[in-house]
Amino acid sequence: MGRLFTIVNASLIVFLGSSSGSKLKGPELSIKGAQHVIQAGQTLNLTCRGEMVHSWSLPEAPSKESKRLKIIKVACGRNGKQFCSSLTLSRAQANDTGYYSCKYASSSAVRKKTESTVYIFINDTGSPFVELHSDIPKIIHMTDGGEMIIPCRVTAPDVAVTLKKIPLETLIPDGKTIIWDSTKGFIIPKATYRFIGLMSCETTVDGHKYSTKYLTHRQTNTIFDVQLNTPNLIKLLKGDTLAVNCTVAAAWNTRVQMTWSYPGEANHRASITNRIGQRNTDANIFYSILVVDKVRDIDKGQYTCHVKSGPSVKSVNTTVHVYDKTFITLKHRRKSVLEAVAGRKSYRLSMKVKAFPSPEVVWLKDGLPAAEKCARYVVKDYSLIIRDVAEEDAGNYTITLSIRQWNLYKNLTVTLIVNVKPQIYEKAVSSFPDPNLYLLGSKQVLTCTDSLFTFCSNTEGPFILKSGSSRGNRIQSITQHMAMIEGKNKTASILAVAEAKSSGIYSCVASNKVGNVERNISFYVTDVPNGFHINLEKMPIEGENLILSCSVNKFLYKDIAWILPRTVNNQTKAKKHIIKEYSTTLILTIKNVSLEHSGTYACRARNIYSGEEVLQKKDVTIRAQEAPSLLRNLSDQIVNTSNSATLECQAQGIPEPQISWFKNHEEIQQEPGESCKHPFPSSLSSLISCLSTSQSLMYSS
Ligand SMILES: *[C@@H]1O[C@H](CO)[C@@H](O)[C@H](O)[C@H]1NC(C)=O
Ligand SMILES: *[C@@H]1O[C@H](CO)[C@@H](O)[C@H](O)[C@H]1NC(C)=O
Ligand SMILES: *[C@@H]1O[C@H](CO)[C@@H](O)[C@H](O)[C@H]1NC(C)=O
Ligand SMILES: *[C@@H]1O[C@H](CO)[C@@H](O)[C@H](O)[C@H]1NC(C)=O
Ligand SMILES: *[C@@H]1O[C@H](CO)[C@@H](O)[C@H](O)[C@H]1NC(C)=O
Ligand SMILES: *[C@@H]1O[C@H](CO)[C@@H](O)[C@H](O)[C@H]1NC(C)=O
Ligand SMILES: *[C@@H]1O[C@H](CO)[C@@H](O)[C@H](O)[C@H]1NC(C)=O
Ligand SMILES: *[C@@H]1O[C@H](CO)[C@@H](O)[C@H](O)[C@H]1NC(C)=O
Ligand SMILES: *[C@@H]1O[C@H](CO)[C@@H](O)[C@H](O)[C@H]1NC(C)=O
Ligand SMILES: *[C@@H]1O[C@H](CO)[C@@H](O)[C@H](O)[C@H]1NC(C)=O
Ligand SMILES: *[C@@H]1O[C@H](CO)[C@@H](O)[C@H](O)[C@H]1NC(C)=O
Ligand SMILES: *[C@@H]1O[C@H](CO)[C@@H](O)[C@H](O)[C@H]1NC(C)=O
Repeated sequence: MGRLFTIVNASLIVFLGSSSGSKLKGPELSIKGAQHVIQAGQTLNLTCRGEMVHSWSLPEAPSKESKRLKIIKVACGRNGKQFCSSLTLSRAQANDTGYYSCKYASSSAVRKKTESTVYIFINDTGSPFVELHSDIPKIIHMTDGGEMIIPCRVTAPDVAVTLKKIPLETLIPDGKTIIWDSTKGFIIPKATYRFIGLMSCETTVDGHKYSTKYLTHRQTNTIFDVQLNTPNLIKLLKGDTLAVNCTVAAAWNTRVQMTWSYPGEANHRASITNRIGQRNTDANIFYSILVVDKVRDIDKGQYTCHVKSGPSVKSVNTTVHVYDKTFITLKHRRKSVLEAVAGRKSYRLSMKVKAFPSPEVVWLKDGLPAAEKCARYVVKDYSLIIRDVAEEDAGNYTITLSIRQWNLYKNLTVTLIVNVKPQIYEKAVSSFPDPNLYLLGSKQVLTCTDSLFTFCSNTEGPFILKSGSSRGNRIQSITQHMAMIEGKNKTASILAVAEAKSSGIYSCVASNKVGNVERNISFYVTDVPNGFHINLEKMPIEGENLILSCSVNKFLYKDIAWILPRTVNNQTKAKKHIIKEYSTTLILTIKNVSLEHSGTYACRARNIYSGEEVLQKKDVTIRAQEAPSLLRNLSDQIVNTSNSATLECQAQGIPEPQISWFKNHEEIQQEPGESCKHPFPSSLSSLISCLSTSQSLMYSS
């Protein structure tokens, strides 16, 4: 870096040249050529001759005050019409090495050449480098792809210097990516990451090794983030102080410039302070704080913090409102009665609020703080958010806004109605698949809870039922009453069927504005108790017919069949299907049964709803025929005239024997009006009760 020494002639005479208009010459130095070497310790003599006032530009080291440096004006040229000055630098030292130039004052007329320069090497074998950084490396900034110079200039043009990247790599100048220039150092026209690190320039003179170190440092323009410490809207009361803090996070090697634009800029309303914050592990932090004291109307508007680093720019803004006084206005957003549906994920209750400054917000539900009442209530800004809306969320919600400091209070209530999709409670309980069977002719009561009205259908096609209706089954009544279910008041609807005659499906439908649900109650009338029944009229005796009938409800069962013991062959069996209104009967007849037809007879049918096969069994035991025999002999009886006597005859046999009474070998015939009661056969006994005459009677079996 050079400094200028201006030699001013008090009586400045400027030659504008001869009438021929010949051009004036530039300044001339006494040492010709681009560079020159003198030995350290010697005196540097340099004169500049020019046609105008001129100034010198020198390397840094020889300071103006230094006694070693003298610059004097001397008269020269014909009649002293030229301007000359002489520079004498005694005891020249290594760091005097550099450009020495002489230059016309910039205000002078335009010329072809206004400056002459020579590069002077001060040859000092003890100081081969003009500047030496041995302990603390000098920091060199670089940008990706930009030119970088490692400025290890030397004190003689022939000093051989090697460039090393510490620890190991030697970078050899190739005249393209790395260029050596003894007046500048190593020039790297396009710097890359390869040149980032600690670099060293090394040379050996007279067996002494010298090195000077540089730390290259890449400069970036990466602004990570710009933030204001304020909300998007800042509300202030007239006279308040506005303070906005703009925080920038930028990459370690990035320097930023921060500026503000704001409404009072022209009047310098704000004072701005920039600071560097504590660098964290990833970034450098910079702050710019804008403060406006005693805000007024003119301070309303947008405040923007602009951040710039090279070509990168970012900005953030905030808007400032200035209020004359404090206030609260509170209105319903839409209606004062709102409706939500139970089961909704979330529902937001909100009001139109305008207030300054920000009031404290409390939501009450039916007079009690909502947030304390239920964890599903969350207050956000001026809204109350209800999560997982439930039936019990219905009620009156009051928002209370207060600014205690200014004694401002407002409240407003909104009513929330929660609509619940109807539910039929029996539905969850009722078990598929078996539909209920109702005995033919019976009275029935069907209940459906929480149904708001009931209509039912029958196989003829659906129709709405009314109390007293006699289509399908006669309906005695349809009534509703309240019932407590799970602690809640529910509507129960009760349908009373006067006489079960017609099969079908009753449906009860519960509906409200949210939706409807249906419950089907299948109503199958049956004349077969329990829907499945086997009947054996009489246990047969061999030679008789076995008649078994299997009856099933035809709505509940199908594929009715008899499963017979193996002994039953084709010839003896007959089946007959009888289909009636409510049931199907399969009659099995086996004629002329023998003892071997005894066994288990089963009737099988398939449940239409469950698909299951159902079996009912009947054990049949065929009894063998047996000749009749008396169980007790009759004994002679002596009976007084006009007394009555009882004669008993007990007989057995299969089939059951017929008993006949004989009196003196004559069969006693029962005659109407006869005084004798005739024996009457029964399975084990025969009785005779007779009004006897004076004769003694003889009976035999
Ligand atoms: C500079 O001038 C002084 C005296 O005029 C002289 O002694 C010295 O040798 C000169 N230096 C050089 C390098 O010519
Ligand atoms: C130049 O070198 C001398 C002696 O080595 C030293 O005293 C002086 O501070 C240096 N000047 C500069 C600007 O480095
Ligand atoms: C510098 O000085 C040394 C020793 O005094 C000498 O050998 C060398 O030739 C000089 N270099 C130049 C370029 O004058
Ligand atoms: C500005 O913000 C930073 C970080 O948020 C904080 O450290 C600093 O104290 C703030 N300064 C002022 C005046 O608010
Ligand atoms: C102010 O910032 C917002 C984003 O916060 C942005 O959308 C808007 O364009 C900015 N306004 C100006 C004028 O920069
Ligand atoms: C809600 O407010 C209305 C009208 O003010 C009132 O009739 C109703 O009883 C209140 N409901 C509750 C649950 O407090
Ligand atoms: C609501 O405000 C009225 C007056 O506007 C007041 O009487 C009432 O107590 C307030 N209610 C609540 C819950 O703050
Ligand atoms: C249920 O409803 C009935 C009729 O509307 C009413 O009389 C009764 O008090 C209610 N019970 C409850 C617990 O709400
Ligand atoms: C009730 O029965 C009707 C008629 O058979 C049918 O359309 C409907 O889907 C059934 N509903 C339910 C819930 O099973
Ligand atoms: C019964 O008749 C079927 C054919 O109708 C025949 O295949 C079967 O062998 C007969 N069974 C007996 C025991 O006769
Ligand atoms: C009845 O069956 C028996 C043998 O089991 C046979 O002897 C008799 O002839 C059969 N009677 C009739 C009427 O078929
Ligand atoms: C009945 O009398 C007859 C002949 O007197 C005799 O053989 C028989 O055993 C008697 N029966 C009974 C049951 O006493």
